Parts: sequence; C-alpha cells; structure tokens
Amino acid sequence: MVKLWQKKTRTDPDIEAFTAGDDPVLDLRLVPYDCAASAGHAKMLGRIGVLTADEVRLLTAELDAIAGLAKEGRFGIPREMEDCHTAIENRLTEKLGELGKKIHTGRSRNDQVLAALRLFCIDEAGRIRSAADALTAGLKSLSGRSGAVRIPGYTHTRKAMPSSIGMWAGGYAVALEEDARLLDFIRGRMDQSPLGTGAGYGVPLEVDRALAAKEAGFSAVQENPIAVQLSRGKFESTLVHALALFMLDANRMASDLIFFSMPEVGFVRLPEAFCTGSSIMPQKKNPDVLELVRAKYHAVLACQIQLQTTTAGLISGYHRDLQLTKKPLMEALDAAAASLAVLAKVVTGVEVDGAACAKALTEEVFAAERVYALVKQGVPFREAYRRVGKQYE
Ligand code: ARG
Repeated sequence: MVKLWQKKTRTDPDIEAFTAGDDPVLDLRLVPYDCAASAGHAKMLGRIGVLTADEVRLLTAELDAIAGLAKEGRFGIPREMEDCHTAIENRLTEKLGELGKKIHTGRSRNDQVLAALRLFCIDEAGRIRSAADALTAGLKSLSGRSGAVRIPGYTHTRKAMPSSIGMWAGGYAVALEEDARLLDFIRGRMDQSPLGTGAGYGVPLEVDRALAAKEAGFSAVQENPIAVQLSRGKFESTLVHALALFMLDANRMASDLIFFSMPEVGFVRLPEAFCTGSSIMPQKKNPDVLELVRAKYHAVLACQIQLQTTTAGLISGYHRDLQLTKKPLMEALDAAAASLAVLAKVVTGVEVDGAACAKALTEEVFAAERVYALVKQGVPFREAYRRVGKQYE
C-alpha cells in the first residue's frame, strides 16, 4: 500500500508530483503533531472498543517512535506517499501489520491534517511568544542601562520634543505586549479539537470526541464539522495577522535603530559584530540585519494575504486548494521568529552614546516647554505660542 486511497489505476507520476507539491518537505514538521493526534485518536478507539488495550499500547508506542525519528530528522516522506498522514499510516502497517490498518477508523485526512496543524500552531505560537518576550527583555535591559538618557523625539523626521531612551524602549515593550495578548487569544482559538469530524461531515461511528480531544492534548472540542473545515486557512491567517503585528513593530523599531545609528545622528552604536561591510567601500559598516528585519514585515504580510485569498470563494467543505496554506503559514512563522530573535540580540547589544544624545538636544526641542512655562505664568496658550514662535519666523 502506498497511497491511502490507491485503487487499481496507478496515478500518473507528473500528476502525483504536482498534487503532492511541497507536502513531502513541509509535512516533516507536522509529523510529531500528527503522531500526538493519532495517539489520542487511537486511545479513543480503545475506549469505544474498536481497538484492544494491547493494540492501543502497540500503536502509541510506534507513534512515539515515529515522532522521535522525526525530531531527529530521520523520518522521511517519500513523494509517492504524498503527505505525513500517509507516511505515518504506512509505517504503522509496515511495523505492526494488520493493526496499522485499523488506525484510520473513524477519521479522515481532513480532520487529521487540521488536528496536526492546530497542535503545530499552538507550539509555534509559544515559540513566537518566547521570541517576543526575549525582545521585550532586551528593551528592558536597554532601559536599565541607558533609560534616563534624553534624546529628541521626532515627528515628520524633524526634531519635535524631548524623549528618552527609556521612553522609546518602553513604547515598543508595551506595543509588543499588546501583540502578545492577541497571539494568546488566537492560540486559545486553535486549542479546539477537530478530531472526529472526518472529512467535514462527521463519521458514521459512535466516536468519543471529548476523549480524543483530551488525549491529543486539546482543551476543548470544536463541535460543528463544517465550522471545523471553514477554519482551515482562516485560523492560520489570524495567527499570521498577529505575526504581522509583531513584525510591524519590529519593522518600525528597525527603522528607528537605523536612523538612531546613522553616523550623522549617532544616538546609538551598533556593535561591529552586528554590521556588514561593502565589497567596494572599505569604510562601510552597514545595518543590513535591521534592513532585513524591516523587509521581512512585507514578506509576512504577503503570507497573510496568500492565506486569506486561498480560501475565498471555495464552497464549504474540504478542497485541495487548502494544502497551499501550509507554506505561507510556515514561512511567516519562521520569518517572525527569526526577526524577533535577531532584533532582541541587537537591542541587547546596542550602545547608547550619551554625548551625541545630549548634543542633539538643541534649543528648538524645548520650544513647546517654553510655551508652557508662559502658560503656567497665566499667558493664554495662543499668545504664548505666538511669542515663542517669533523666534522661528
Ligand atoms: N495534504 C493534504 C492537505 O494539506 C491532506 C489532506 C488531504 N485530503 C484530501 N481529501 N485530499 O490538505
């Protein structure tokens, strides 16, 4: 047995390669999650009497072994097997014979792929949360070192009013915490089991969905099977939306740091080990790392749009189109995790040049303060504004 649905006719190899697409590679990341969901499903089959207790033990032990192999990069998905679900079932049958053929009772690859993807996303959301927390910690360490150093705040890329390194770092820390709250919410939405919804219309068997959910590691059951199918791509795009918000903050933080570290401005110095050089201009110390963080925001946004548009217009129920949601999901997760991690390193390593900051606090930065000094003496605001403004005519 190669494909789960294989009948008499062999599939054309070109069609096979096209329909499998990137799954043999992308699905490698889903293998441990499919194993966890399959083990939950097997335990449920044991409870309803489809499998004996011994059979459940054998299946879960083999699923554990497969997950272990996958984590070590030693589990392959041959192209003719299409995806991880097929490769895992084939491996169970190869190792356990007839028993392997029982695991697919009461399920379809459509609920199986959703279960694996949701468990994967829940873990990945944790990875993003840790990377964002590390960045927040980096901002707090910068504040701890140099928070009191005053710098001009800018509007329209022109000096506006006094700010400080602490106000700057604190602003981004708050923004990241807000993004993290949205991420946590989305993670909670994903924590609902699709197991037992089959191809999208339930299964003609008395499955115990609550037990399968609990054993697979979900906190709740998503009841309506059509709603479960409607979530494919949509949950992913919501998660990637949260990533895009993190990346928008990262993008603007990168722009700030590029500006702050410009030799003409010089509020901060990027450690030399973080800079790249030029092949022709020997003097250059470039902030490529920050430029790439800035650019990856757009890459993540493109993934979000891809996710949103892939599902639009499809009638409800599963379609193979949905397979194409995996790549943008994984790309966006990797881009966000890498960007947040590298930015944490930059923020932690950046050095503040107190003298350059002080020098930049030229008198016009205090114009509004002078206006308010007059207001406090009882001068009406508009009059005080005019008096101070004369100097700048
Ligand atoms: N690789 C498929 C996907 O990602 C798995 C589900 C296949 N189901 C099907 N009915 N063809 O969507």
